[in-house]
Amino acid sequence: MQDIVLKTPTVESVIHCGAGTFEKYSQNLKGRRLFVITDDTVNELYAGLIASTFGKVDKFVFPAGEESKTPQTLLNILNRMLEAGIKRNDTVVAFGGGVVGDIAGLAASLYMRGVCLVQIPTTLLAQVDSSVGGKTAVDLNGVKNVLGTFYQPEEVIADPLFFKTLTVREMRCGLGEIVKYGALNKNVYDKLLINENNLFSLDFLEEIVYDCVAHKADVVTKDEHDLTGLRKSLNLGHTTGHALELKYGGLSHGEYVLIGAYYELYIAQNLNICGGQYSENLKKLILRVLDEVPAFDGLESVGEVALHDKKNSDGLISLVVPKSEGEWTEVKIEKKKYISALTECAQKIRENKW
Ligand SMILES: NC(=O)c1ccc[n+]([C@@H]2O[C@H](COP(=O)([O-])OP(=O)(O)OC[C@H]3O[C@@H](n4cnc5c(N)ncnc54)[C@H](O)[C@@H]3O)[C@@H](O)[C@H]2O)c1
Repeated sequence: MQDIVLKTPTVESVIHCGAGTFEKYSQNLKGRRLFVITDDTVNELYAGLIASTFGKVDKFVFPAGEESKTPQTLLNILNRMLEAGIKRNDTVVAFGGGVVGDIAGLAASLYMRGVCLVQIPTTLLAQVDSSVGGKTAVDLNGVKNVLGTFYQPEEVIADPLFFKTLTVREMRCGLGEIVKYGALNKNVYDKLLINENNLFSLDFLEEIVYDCVAHKADVVTKDEHDLTGLRKSLNLGHTTGHALELKYGGLSHGEYVLIGAYYELYIAQNLNICGGQYSENLKKLILRVLDEVPAFDGLESVGEVALHDKKNSDGLISLVVPKSEGEWTEVKIEKKKYISALTECAQKIRENKW
């Protein structure tokens, strides 16, 4: 068990990482009035644990999945909090994956101008990424994360106990983000390479969650509100991944982040930013997590979607790409060049040359 402290000018958020943290730190919540938010899949698996740990608490359960990440779910939660008589000094507990964490965080930040928030992330992705850093959101009219706030949880309890019930796909989703950290942080990269045949093991995941969270906490401490460009680095692989996800669908977000990183690595190599053994190692790691990287057809419209990414400026597509171990850079590329590089990459994948 290890703690990481994320300090911002306004708050201090403590992230408890490791086996046993749930049992230990959930005890501290017992004296408080809690409002637990979760989804129906998690509730089915962990209602017994929630009840035996926290006793009889107010609980809001919504249908699992991104489709629930809407203003309507948010309003339903806020209404229920009001009906239940939740007060300013009560605590919202987000018990679930990234969808639960994002909505519950937003609800906690809005209700009575902010009540205390504790995140108990139950997916690998939520532990390494979404529960840390204070970004909250719901989608609006199908556009992702448009309504949101920055609101730091007081505590995050990241216990690998919950990984035992995750599907392989959900594990891949989290590993996608972990490989992303590997492209940003040398320590994570080294550990990924050493454990390349062991990526799904619980012991390895427990250790690497801590390293990824430490990296994210450091970035968020320096650029909490995404103002200096540093926090943008955490979007490595996301511009292309998200654009491919919108166009082709069918796979999970984390899988698309990795696929995006694979295509963007090709672009970085073509621009002589990244290459040699380092680039080969990153490709290898991506392929350890995914069974294969698809060779997409009809990539023209993906350029249009990527151009509308909120990180862009000057009519150019902005990509965060790996440079060398622990080093990254931002590339700004014209849509035409971007589409032609993606198309070339797909062709090389088809020919087994990338
Ligand atoms: N706030 C941020 O900084 C940030 C960062 C990255 C992603 N996100 C958001 O996170 C969301 C994705 O998160 P996610 O991948 O955790 O998705 P999710 O919350 O939808 O969880 C994925 C699935 O796993 C199930 N699940 C959760 N815990 C489980 C467990 N222990 N055992 C079995 N099943 C379990 C859920 O019910 C769901 O069906 C997206 O909405 C994304 O926008 C936010």
